[in-house]
Amino acid sequence: MEVSIKHSCIVKPQERICTSTFQLSEWDQTGVITHVPTVYFYRPSQEWLKSSKSIVDTLKESLSRVLVHFYPLAGRVRWIGQGRLELLCNAKGVELIEANSSGELSDFGDFASQTNLFENLLPYVDYDKPIDELPLMLGQLTQFKCGGICLGVNISHVVADGQSALHFMSEWARLARGEPLEMAPYFNPDIFRSQDLPKTSIGFDTHIEFKPPPLLIGANNNLEERKKATIVAILPLSKEHVDILKKDVKEGSIDDHNMYSYTRYEVIAAHIWRSACKAREHQLEQPTCLGFSIDVRNRLQPPLPPKYFGNAILDVVASSKSGDIMTKPLHYTCAKIRQAIEKVNNEYIWSNIDFWKKLPDLSPFQDLHARKSMDGPFYGNPNLGVISWLTLPMYGLDFGWGKEIYMGPGTHDSDGDCLMLPGPVNDGSVQVAICLQEAHVDAFKKYFYKDIPGEA
Ligand code: COA
Repeated sequence: MEVSIKHSCIVKPQERICTSTFQLSEWDQTGVITHVPTVYFYRPSQEWLKSSKSIVDTLKESLSRVLVHFYPLAGRVRWIGQGRLELLCNAKGVELIEANSSGELSDFGDFASQTNLFENLLPYVDYDKPIDELPLMLGQLTQFKCGGICLGVNISHVVADGQSALHFMSEWARLARGEPLEMAPYFNPDIFRSQDLPKTSIGFDTHIEFKPPPLLIGANNNLEERKKATIVAILPLSKEHVDILKKDVKEGSIDDHNMYSYTRYEVIAAHIWRSACKAREHQLEQPTCLGFSIDVRNRLQPPLPPKYFGNAILDVVASSKSGDIMTKPLHYTCAKIRQAIEKVNNEYIWSNIDFWKKLPDLSPFQDLHARKSMDGPFYGNPNLGVISWLTLPMYGLDFGWGKEIYMGPGTHDSDGDCLMLPGPVNDGSVQVAICLQEAHVDAFKKYFYKDIPGEA
């Protein structure tokens, strides 16, 4: 699908209320430090299309107002040595691009199976430029022949995790549709920088998130796996599928004299992990791990202030042998995931922060280029990274021309990257967006559906 850029501009905050430089927290600077892409598709009403104020002007004007509150996004980050970054709140602004497409909304079908068409709808971030020249937020409004539009957004993970990014989007939309700000973000990375960290007795060995994930048996590194061609599949699970999996796990655990209830995330992540081990044809002795992010806002004591803006997510790891995952009942794998979640209490969180602070160089823990990088963390074969967006307020973003008809992640192309999203109509269904090596994707789809009891 052809997309041509009409115009691009820098949008600055309407007024400048902060001129400081901030030391970022270690969580801001590790893991994904590139931008996270999302797309929103709309079918604006005829009234809107005819109204005197254009969609792009509405977006631009409201963006400059919302940036007054979300001023970190209007700044830039720069390297300060040892793989560490600082944030300059210099109001350099964000980029807003206007584009036209020869395509129509109908070309996207159900959207979910056409994610390969999203790439040109997302604002391009040139990672070859110095990091301090890159806007931390970029938006692209693409207008289609049929009158439909797409808003593609890239938000830097250095300044915002999923909760923070969605808070920004929701307040931007409120201002655009003429409502007041609901709640200002609370920005203070110093919360995690206190030199006087609470004392903890947890040893480094407990933090397996700092250890390199396992390699394929017989391999000395993961370079070959990183190079392999990948493909993204978006796989829907109906509410019935989810209920069957949950029931299967619950009934299966009776054998262990315990009837555990596991959450949707635990059950589906376990099911994904099992399907991946099978599709990748792992040996039974293959060590494998599942990495995922935990929101610590309410796990800290005291909890973080409401609408904390930044990164308040800690990455944890569940590990096992592929043979156990493939042959034991699903509740075994759910329990592994539950154990990894349950250990994340106040003490564990501060001890994780303490270890980050003591690291002389953060570079080995930074996913800098996002795409096909040969450095940084890699959760591809034999591992997986399954991030939950299940409880994020993702849908219903109305800038004044109605709610989106589709919202979803942009492209992601690193083997093993997986997102779990709620179904688009809040009916209890779930969508799994998973990137796998081309050679594994068909087998993964087969096991993903065949291993749901009653679906064989
Ligand atoms: N909306 C709906 N239900 C919610 C909810 C919300 N905002 N918050 C909690 N619940 C309920 C649900 O019923 C859920 O059970 P169910 O999914 O079986 O229906 C239950 O509470 C447990 O939810 P949660 O505490 O989120 O546990 P989980 O096992 O589903 O997920 C984690 C575990 C670690 C993934 C989750 O705690 C977490 O941190 N999620 C945020 C991840 C994140 O920030 N992602 C973006 C990264 S940039």
